[in-house]
Amino acid sequence: MNMGTSTPPLTKLAAWQALEAHYPKVRDLHLRKLFADDTKRAERMTAEAVGIYFDYSKHRITDETLRLLLQLAEESGLRARIDAMFRGEKINVTEKRAVLHVALRAPNGQSMMVDGEDVVPQVHAVLDKMAGFSNRVRSGEWKGHTGKRICNVINIGIGGSDLGPVMAYEALRYYSQRDLTFRFVSNIDGTDFAEATRDLDAEETLFIISSKTFATLETMTNAHTARDWILKSLKHPAAVARHFVAVSTNAAAVAMFGIDTANMFEFWDWVGGRYSMDAAIGLSTMIAIGSEHFLAMLDGFHQMDEHFRTAPFERNLPVLMGLLGLWYNNFFGAQTIAVLPYEQYLKRFPAYLQQLTMESNGKHVTLAGTEVDYQTGPIYWGEPGTNGQHSFYQLIHQGTKLIPCDFIGFLQPLNPLGRHHDLLFSNMFAQAEALAFGKTSQEVQAEGTPAWLAPHRTFEGNRPSSTILLERLTPEALGKLIALYEHSVFTQGAIWSIDSFDQWGVELGKALAVRIIPELEPAAEHQLTHDSSTNALIRRYGRAKEPSHGR
Ligand code: F6P
Repeated sequence: MNMGTSTPPLTKLAAWQALEAHYPKVRDLHLRKLFADDTKRAERMTAEAVGIYFDYSKHRITDETLRLLLQLAEESGLRARIDAMFRGEKINVTEKRAVLHVALRAPNGQSMMVDGEDVVPQVHAVLDKMAGFSNRVRSGEWKGHTGKRICNVINIGIGGSDLGPVMAYEALRYYSQRDLTFRFVSNIDGTDFAEATRDLDAEETLFIISSKTFATLETMTNAHTARDWILKSLKHPAAVARHFVAVSTNAAAVAMFGIDTANMFEFWDWVGGRYSMDAAIGLSTMIAIGSEHFLAMLDGFHQMDEHFRTAPFERNLPVLMGLLGLWYNNFFGAQTIAVLPYEQYLKRFPAYLQQLTMESNGKHVTLAGTEVDYQTGPIYWGEPGTNGQHSFYQLIHQGTKLIPCDFIGFLQPLNPLGRHHDLLFSNMFAQAEALAFGKTSQEVQAEGTPAWLAPHRTFEGNRPSSTILLERLTPEALGKLIALYEHSVFTQGAIWSIDSFDQWGVELGKALAVRIIPELEPAAEHQLTHDSSTNALIRRYGRAKEPSHGR
């Protein structure tokens, strides 16, 4: 395993240095020429596995680039690191934890060990418990305190305890039980809770409090507000047991909140928050789509896990995807990657990926604690097509920044309506084509454009993209797609030799907020000891709470 000790530093690896020498030879090559010189490029530079077709031919690479990137993967110890993850080793070194989200989707009977214990039976016991509860809610057997059927399910959580459930609910809405309403409250801004509940009847509403730690300020604040909201309507403390369940690793805190631990769905410290949507954090997803569909989603994840674990790197989709991202990040100096799903149901997928990718790989030191001398995680962002085309694509096509793009599409529409799907796909294919090949000034002028206008209408092209195609958006397909990104993030983190599984960068702001809370009380005369800007902002806020304010 590359812990920054046994393997030479990344930039001293032979493959890294060869890539540095190779980069100037590729930098100015145009995709127009690469395709013109090699009619078989698209055939060679595609890979297909577990039902995902990955076209990476529109990338600014040659066969030699690919060879060197694959060599980099080998030299950096990626193989050993993959094996260490699947063996349940504590590869999250700063938190001394195993990283075993792959065990969450391991089939019954397979074993995966953490500290000498097989965790797969525990995983399936929780899945069974989730299935039992989901069935009761879906069938109407689980009643609220006054005997009314539960019609509304509200997940309260944030970060990994929210983004996965929201994304999966939106992505799999087609399969959801339509007489149930699902809402997701994450923000500590009271508006989030107020708007989520304003038209709901407390008697028919179930809250799922999702928090790995059961200590997160936002989630606990919203959970207490939810309890007040329930008690205000239902007027009896016993109502809490019928209207609240919890998903957590912290049984003591769940019990303290007043939730019966019989209604707690457990997960474990070897599941990172941003990797937890297929643990019990997915309870809202299971209630929405049913346990069979949920298990099909896990099977999709597992198929990609097995592919990642066993496929040779040159045919390994997450490895190829991770290496291509690294090529632009570390050699071209690209700062961002745009994720562009041509699928409305994936509208929250870019937001979900932001936590997965940036909380994982936004790190500045290696596993050994030394400052990196290369770039780590890029910024991920995006919107579903075709909406983005009428907003930010202009900059991708003609701006001064290099933004590699991931186009994602499903061949079979879930809602076939007239020619919509053909038009959607023609747009996706056209965008990737336009980005890669552009339009020369000669072509523009040949169309009769006056010379003064030609520069504005010229497209330089040579903008790289991947196209990722799947057959149909099913729960299984979604699992495969998410696992593709998870393992591509792993690939990059392993090569950069960083801890992709901790998130210390979120701590300072949390601690400072806790310190500032009492300082916002209007009456108190606070001795503020922040910088002059923060002091002035706090004072201004305090004045706004005074009764005389605004009169
Ligand atoms: O923002 C940091 C973080 O710890 C995330 O990693 C996590 O997903 C989120 O907060 C929520 O944490 P919890 O599930 O413990 O409430």
